[in-house]
Amino acid sequence: MDKLIITGGNRLHGEVVISGAKNAALPILCASLLTADTLHLSNVPSLKDISTTLKLLAQMGVQSQWGNPAELTLNAANVTSLEAPYELVKTMRASILVLGPLLARFGEARVSLPGGCAIGQRPVDQHIKGLTAMGAEIRIEHGFVIARAKRLKGATIRTDMVTVTGTENLLMAAVLAEGRTILENAAREPEITDLAELLIKMGARIQGHGTDRIIIDGVERLHGAKHRIVADRIEAGTFLCAVGAAGGDITLRHAAPDTMGAVLDKLQEAGVSIECGPDWIRGHMNQRPKAVGFRTYEYPAFPTDMQAQLMALNTIADGTAVIAENIFENRFMHVQELRRMGANIDIDGHTAVVKGIPELSGATVMATDLRASASLVIAGLAASGQTTIERIYHLDRGYEHMEVKLRQIGADIQRIKQDPA
Ligand code: EPU
Repeated sequence: MDKLIITGGNRLHGEVVISGAKNAALPILCASLLTADTLHLSNVPSLKDISTTLKLLAQMGVQSQWGNPAELTLNAANVTSLEAPYELVKTMRASILVLGPLLARFGEARVSLPGGCAIGQRPVDQHIKGLTAMGAEIRIEHGFVIARAKRLKGATIRTDMVTVTGTENLLMAAVLAEGRTILENAAREPEITDLAELLIKMGARIQGHGTDRIIIDGVERLHGAKHRIVADRIEAGTFLCAVGAAGGDITLRHAAPDTMGAVLDKLQEAGVSIECGPDWIRGHMNQRPKAVGFRTYEYPAFPTDMQAQLMALNTIADGTAVIAENIFENRFMHVQELRRMGANIDIDGHTAVVKGIPELSGATVMATDLRASASLVIAGLAASGQTTIERIYHLDRGYEHMEVKLRQIGADIQRIKQDPA
């Protein structure tokens, strides 16, 4: 397993090109199952989760081909299997996103149940509830969700909580269903808007995406389309936390600041000066950060996927920050690793109290999930001395060439390749 070695203390200066959003690309890749025609995608990030999804689609018979960097074509004209096996689903929960499209186009799907994960239990009961309301017969057998429906029928579905992939699965199912589906309490994340925009280009009839009430009028079939994946707001936010913690002046290119309001507000409160254009963000930091408390909620509030990174910045801030994690029940795994670097953090249930200290000290730490890994990188960049981060395969699932991008802006960071054997 590869590890990262960071020598902290360098200020960050220069430009970073932001990649396409992982969490937009994953459902969009699965949307290829909805048509026999070809999808032409651009700004597709090169990530482990993307290659896992392509592997999953390939074993179903979907053909994919990379063109110029970040360009991908997908064709699902010859689907031969309607199954998502445990081996792939267990490494990536987003595999559940094939359920809606398979059921909608082929009337059948067998998808392994994902099981728990490092950040929480993450059940998929709402995906199942919604598809059942659309007329699917669903049973759980031998660890698989087995779903059947002649043709899905439009329904009004109100999920018990706001769910991102739940909304995406139901949206992809509804576009080929008979009649009108109304998704109430729908997620409003920009990645859902991006998926809906692709589906509309494919011939779907959707209104209200980006709000909590999405109306879908099903069509008989969808066709091919060209689409550019929206910028990764979490990657952009992560780089801005890095400059907030380490100091410096960076400009992010190909970013989508209009999707980052809550994060940009908090960074400004912490003392980072932010300037934005339509697709760029400049973050400039020349002082010790000020502590900023925040609560994670669904979009447009502060995202859970930025909680660990902004916590890392708070560990060296002036003051005390109270951080509430309201989306996942176990998303403080980075705390014990940050403590190994000297951070002063207390946890009480879903609240963390971070008392800022002047400086972290480098240590050997272990990445436990994707965003936890990013927080350790930020901590390492700001710490004195050397930080070694082990198990960075988590980072590779969701950040494209992170250490290369950081080196380009002056960080002292090296990847040590280790043979799995
Ligand atoms: N939930 C249920 N039942 C369901 C669905 C969700 O109880 O059927 C609960 C979850 O356990 C959680 C809450 O509802 O407590 C919200 O979960 P959601 O379904 O919104 O999460 P997700 O769709 O599984 C996506 C992202 C996550 C991101 C969350 C929240 C993708 C592929 N994943 O997950 O991204 O944290 O939304 O915004 O889009 C990451 O990128 O690091 C990541 C974990």
